[in-house]
Amino acid sequence: MSNLLDDYEALVRKRRATRHFVDDPVDPALVDRLLGIAQWAPSGYNLQPTRFAVVTGRAIRPALRRACMDQAAIDEAPVVVIFAADHRAYENHIEETLALDLAAGATTPEYVEFLRGILPLAFRRDPLSWLWKTALLPFVRWVRPIPELPAVNKRFWLAKQTMLCAMNFLLAAEASGLNTLPMEGFDTARVRRALRLPRHWEPMLVVALGRARPGTAPRKTRLPLERIILRR
Ligand SMILES: Cc1cc2nc3c(=O)[nH]c(=O)nc-3n(C[C@H](O)[C@H](O)[C@H](O)COP(=O)(O)O)c2cc1C
Repeated sequence: MSNLLDDYEALVRKRRATRHFVDDPVDPALVDRLLGIAQWAPSGYNLQPTRFAVVTGRAIRPALRRACMDQAAIDEAPVVVIFAADHRAYENHIEETLALDLAAGATTPEYVEFLRGILPLAFRRDPLSWLWKTALLPFVRWVRPIPELPAVNKRFWLAKQTMLCAMNFLLAAEASGLNTLPMEGFDTARVRRALRLPRHWEPMLVVALGRARPGTAPRKTRLPLERIILRR
């Protein structure tokens, strides 16, 4: 077995949700590096809809803490990162991502043309497409396989993409000697207002980042592996 796998397993098992932080600053260059690692998560069609809002200042902490159900980590952590999903990633960025991949030789013009053909089917939500995707596709599914369409269940699709970036971030932070608290306990509209996020950015996860106050992150348990595997 490779050392890389051993190291990775040790890292994953070492990470703990950290609810209290010491008052040590985190180097901004390190935060950017961690975000750069988070960004290398895979995404459907390589569309990369995850956005990061980075909070290091103090001014908005009271409003943010209130929006996050008064969780103390919002005040204690030197850095809070909001992992947001861009509802307009397809409309605003698809051509840019395709062009970058083409220029890097990471895709072919033929595949780009294929994507240009199917992506409207996956993403477009104008009233007519919406109608046939929601009303007609369930019947088409009886005769041929149709994948889940982001156009029909967009928040579900976006959440998948954003969480992969977030997990990369939690583990990268752990590898750098920092600790994190992922939080879903927040009021979406209030977080959006506190940070003055663009309207099409939806906060999906709030992550506090810093150094754990010693002795405040007890080791949680996991279900026995066999209980959660279905073998066929
Ligand atoms: C999506 C998600 C949302 C969470 N939200 C909160 C939260 O709002 N507040 C909190 O204290 N912990 C939160 N947690 C942390 C979990 O309680 C914690 O991960 C779980 O108890 C397992 O502990 P461990 O991460 O230390 O292994 C969240 C975790 C995840 C993955």
